[in-house]
Amino acid sequence: MAQATTAQKITVTPLSHACGAEISGVDLTKDLTADVIRQIQDAWNEHIVLTFRGQNLSQEDQLRFASHFGPLGKRKQAPDQLKERTEGVLQLDPHVLLVSNKKVDGVPVGAFGDGDMWYHIDSGYTERPYAYTFLYGVELPTWGGDTLFSNMYMAYDAMPADLKQRIHGKRALHVHEYKRNEKVTVGTDLSNTPHWYHPVVITHPKTRRPSLFVDRLMTARIEGVSQQESDDILGQLYEIGEREDFVYAHKWQLGDFVMWDNLATIHARTYFPKEETRLLRRCTVDGDLVSAAA
Ligand code: OGA
Ligand code: MN
Repeated sequence: MAQATTAQKITVTPLSHACGAEISGVDLTKDLTADVIRQIQDAWNEHIVLTFRGQNLSQEDQLRFASHFGPLGKRKQAPDQLKERTEGVLQLDPHVLLVSNKKVDGVPVGAFGDGDMWYHIDSGYTERPYAYTFLYGVELPTWGGDTLFSNMYMAYDAMPADLKQRIHGKRALHVHEYKRNEKVTVGTDLSNTPHWYHPVVITHPKTRRPSLFVDRLMTARIEGVSQQESDDILGQLYEIGEREDFVYAHKWQLGDFVMWDNLATIHARTYFPKEETRLLRRCTVDGDLVSAAA
């Protein structure tokens, strides 16, 4: 008979020196106790990216599990002229985004299509970027399409003092043009392009640690400095943020469930063959206003 004293313990196995840990001993289709959720949250705060293998998750299971960590996020609405890039025909729940290159009768079922994706923060171009993202592997190509996660606490800690000084108190402009592997081209009129300013270094809401908050795909420029100075600083920040020793590379298997802290990581995707199908089911948890590092 189950006793109150035989509390379930999850197993946490680190996956790299940078970030990432595999959690075992948990079936995500089951109702989990508050204590197990707390153990997962603690492991998440420490390891930033958590993976679970061999899960068999319905969309409902995925949303139920994710909602233990905060209010579910909705898919962002693209401006009209960019809508067809995001609105796949099989995304029937507003909380679900299908990350896929798959088409039915020539029409995309989801979003994010083919090929590689540069490092980015999910919805970093909004006032309240998602706190967390959850991906479940449904269909996978025979090679490629790895998801790379870089630890932005480590990136901040590794910045030389003079660089920390140059970005002290600064904000950066994040712009979303629905590109995957091409730099944003900021014109003077951003009224039809989703964008937001955030501190270059933020305080993580849970761990209170400073975290570098810029990415190659969507960060357009540092506010209040010349274009040349901005390009120079961002170039250095990307180089640090994408350092291999800060990265955990996830090689997908069917049934993998991966969840990451969007305020302590940037993530990217490696190339995969277009002729093959890749489908991952994504949901998110909403974040709050982002605060600057002290
Ligand atoms: C995402 C994302 C990467 C991938 O779902 O936000 O960036 O590997 N996915 O498809
Ligand atoms: Mn993403």
